[in-house]
Amino acid sequence: MADFKNSSFATFLRKNKICPVCFAKKIASATQIHLNGADRFENGTALTPPMGWASWNLFRNRINEKLIEDIAKAMRDSGLADCGYQYVNIDDCWMSSSRDENGRLRGDLATFPSGIKALCEKVNDLGLKLGIYTSNGTLTCEDLPSSLYHERTDAETFAEWGIEYFKYDFCHNIPIPTNAPEISTVMLTKPGCAEGITLYAEDAELRGNAILLSDSKMADTGRYVSGLESGGGSMYFSNVDIPEDGTYTLTLGLHKAGFKDKYLEIVVNDTDIYTLTEPGTKGFTHDGRNQITVELKKGSNSFKFHNPVASRMDSAAKQYRNMGKELQRATKLVAEREGKEEKPICFSICEWGRNKPWIWGHTAGNLWRTTPDIKPVWASIIGIYEVNVRLYKHAGSGNWNDPDMLEVGNGDLNDNENKAHFSLWCMMSAPLILGNDLRKFIRPDGSVDKDNKILKIISNKAAIAINQDKLGIQCRRIRTNGLTDVLVKPLENKEMAICLLNKGPVEMEVSFDMKDIVKESFALLPDAYKYEVYDIWDDKEFKIRDTYSAKLAPHSVKLFRIMAD
Ligand code: GLA
Repeated sequence: MADFKNSSFATFLRKNKICPVCFAKKIASATQIHLNGADRFENGTALTPPMGWASWNLFRNRINEKLIEDIAKAMRDSGLADCGYQYVNIDDCWMSSSRDENGRLRGDLATFPSGIKALCEKVNDLGLKLGIYTSNGTLTCEDLPSSLYHERTDAETFAEWGIEYFKYDFCHNIPIPTNAPEISTVMLTKPGCAEGITLYAEDAELRGNAILLSDSKMADTGRYVSGLESGGGSMYFSNVDIPEDGTYTLTLGLHKAGFKDKYLEIVVNDTDIYTLTEPGTKGFTHDGRNQITVELKKGSNSFKFHNPVASRMDSAAKQYRNMGKELQRATKLVAEREGKEEKPICFSICEWGRNKPWIWGHTAGNLWRTTPDIKPVWASIIGIYEVNVRLYKHAGSGNWNDPDMLEVGNGDLNDNENKAHFSLWCMMSAPLILGNDLRKFIRPDGSVDKDNKILKIISNKAAIAINQDKLGIQCRRIRTNGLTDVLVKPLENKEMAICLLNKGPVEMEVSFDMKDIVKESFALLPDAYKYEVYDIWDDKEFKIRDTYSAKLAPHSVKLFRIMAD
């Protein structure tokens, strides 16, 4: 709770005259389970779900700097920026297939010839923010250079360019091995010195599955520690006396074993974590060696050796957390170096829900994809909704479930389907990242096509207000019969959004009773004699006492904002 009270979200609540402690007690216990987590990823962005546009859903690999700039202009000129849309995100295919001579990513030399920094400045001049994409793998999904093993360089490059949104995909990922090296000795030397301190396996404190074994074909004592893999065991040296503060070379003497890659974490003085990987081994001798540089302090030092990665989920969480930390480090570094205000990068995790990111995503980034890629067809939208709607407990201000970018205005979705898709994303506190061609909203004479049905949907301020509500509570489904659902979302000022959904192909009647809704523990709506209802898509107001029922067309919703009368 102490961490929560001091968090930027708590400050934000106070500014909005909401008592953070009361809020945490009333809301977090019932809904947002990660809100109090000390390990929450917090960078001041995405306090409400991020809003913007991304190139992938419609344009795929057919992108270039002019298109991105034209979309940004259209976002501003159509009034979408005034509705809250601010990120212009370049998805896959922006990068050249080769890094520059300093190993840095660069824009495609033919389609982004002015470079991403220049494009970012243009987008910023329009009052908008530029977003970018790579993969947590050796290549992107379109097989272009990516950021796994280049995290620090790429994070710094993005921060230097002024990027403010970063989507990190999962194609060509290489998981962290769950195996661990077997350690015989640990040698600590000052750079330039051959003599130092040597620690022997037999003197270590062993925990869990860690076990001392011997191999007569090895040098020295032939004894080594095994069993450090999969979070099952660890090896410690404490009270290692170091003569002076400084940088030391830590050389591990290893027992060569097995053909699988191995991973090790070395925790120095309980705080500094160093990592190393060891390739599968086959050599003439049984003795291997691995070296890193560590910072030690004068006097007593401690060392822990282990591989805590036991699963694909551990691996993904660690790799995404690592990138999140690098982004935070990079934006601070660049701000200090350039003497400018820090531009934090909203960090969008995109591993398609493979490794249950709703469990760990809040420790790594601002949002996490919960599902595979969306398509502009009703079955895809509803399939994604069915997964994401159940995950309401994991979302909250600063860290959101992401059911993927919007397809409103794409494919053959009809008016009801477009409204329903948008409404569901608003109810689920989903990021509102548009995926359609915004240039269509601007007529050749430069005026805005205000009658454009798609523009009307995505700029509906009442619908957006539900999504952007400061409480940041994802809706709950309180009733379903398979074909129709009733969703409720508590809002600020003791108001509530209700969405009735007909998923099926024929007209269906959907109803609710205010008494059932008010008695739910998470509802912030007071028990009242009458309620005032605003029908968002019909733009009509009416009052209800208790029950309400309506016939809904196939693939459609009714979206209401309700308050006590
Ligand atoms: C994956 C992602 C998509 C998109 C493409 C780009 O499929 O899930 O959203 O970014 O990669 O190649």
